[in-house]
Amino acid sequence: MNPPGRWPGIVAAFRHELGLLPAGAPALSLGEGNTPLVPARRAGRGQIDLHFKWEGSNPTGSFKDRGMAVAVSGAIAAGARGLICASTGNTAASAAAYGARAGLPVTLAIPAGHVAQGKLAQAVACGAVLLGLDGGFDAALAAVREAAALRPDLAVVNSVNPLRLEGQKTAAHEVVAQLGRAPDWLAIPVGNAGNITAYGRGFDECRAAGRAAAQPRLLGVQAAGAAPMVRGAPVDAPETVATAIRIGRPASGDLARAAVAASDGRFLAVSDDEILAAYRFLAQEEGLFAEPASAASLAGLWRALESGLVAQGATVVAVLTGHGLKDPERAVTLGAAPRPVAATGAAVAAALP
Ligand code: F0G
Repeated sequence: MNPPGRWPGIVAAFRHELGLLPAGAPALSLGEGNTPLVPARRAGRGQIDLHFKWEGSNPTGSFKDRGMAVAVSGAIAAGARGLICASTGNTAASAAAYGARAGLPVTLAIPAGHVAQGKLAQAVACGAVLLGLDGGFDAALAAVREAAALRPDLAVVNSVNPLRLEGQKTAAHEVVAQLGRAPDWLAIPVGNAGNITAYGRGFDECRAAGRAAAQPRLLGVQAAGAAPMVRGAPVDAPETVATAIRIGRPASGDLARAAVAASDGRFLAVSDDEILAAYRFLAQEEGLFAEPASAASLAGLWRALESGLVAQGATVVAVLTGHGLKDPERAVTLGAAPRPVAATGAAVAAALP
């Protein structure tokens, strides 16, 4: 990996690993990737060696930037005239930014009323056209795929675009390089099931290249109200506070199931209360302000520790997929609003805890 300060972004750093990207494609980048692996302070409960892959530090605040850099580089090479995607918010924010960077118009189909404010703000600020669709993410993705068939000049940058997963698998390569080995387990939130598939592929490549002795077991965590991978059947009206993973028909469900089985991993579901407890813990005990969907990975890991699935002493990486600023309305519920205090030393001193 390149030394800090000279990080060239995902396409330039990993071009040889990105087999599906045409050789002549440009290396469009906003500096994505090379994100920190932060050791847990208390979240491992003294039982495991836990690290967080902090994807909130990507340019638009989520892991989506890895795949978007590759997908938009590929779209430029293919001569696309614009980008389109469906999204619960983070893919939208990422597409808007990378589209702006590429000089391509971006259209975003989002589930009306169910996208966190920070993500909407990012998409609007970057000049994308937003379409609010009824019926949730699954209906929006189906509509986008149909619309794209009528408009071959547009590149679909959802994870059904194979270049997205190619870009996202680079996080697994980074984890192995940062840890010096593969972890025993990787805990990761699952929505449309692309990212867990990408990690599985990346870890496989590390093992094939001799950089890791074994494949980590994949722990895919879903919200109980949106858990088609756990139930083994689609969910028609998914519901959860973790709006990023409010998905009932994961487009990469079959690939993810195969990746989890090949790693001897598991899918499990956690309640919204467990997600919010982990969300609070991450911010207030670890100093890692991630969005609720990201906290699902820690909530699921705690479950797996309690059931004995993850053994004492294991080395575990939990992926924190998106930044807490994405969802400011949820964030402000974690603490009190500012208390009015006079601007004098005495008044401030009297207000100190
Ligand atoms: N975490 C966050 C913060 C996400 O935004 C997503 C997906 C996931 C986890 C789940 O990843 O879909 O690959 O299983 N967000 C998509 C979007 C659906 O439109 O931004 P996945």
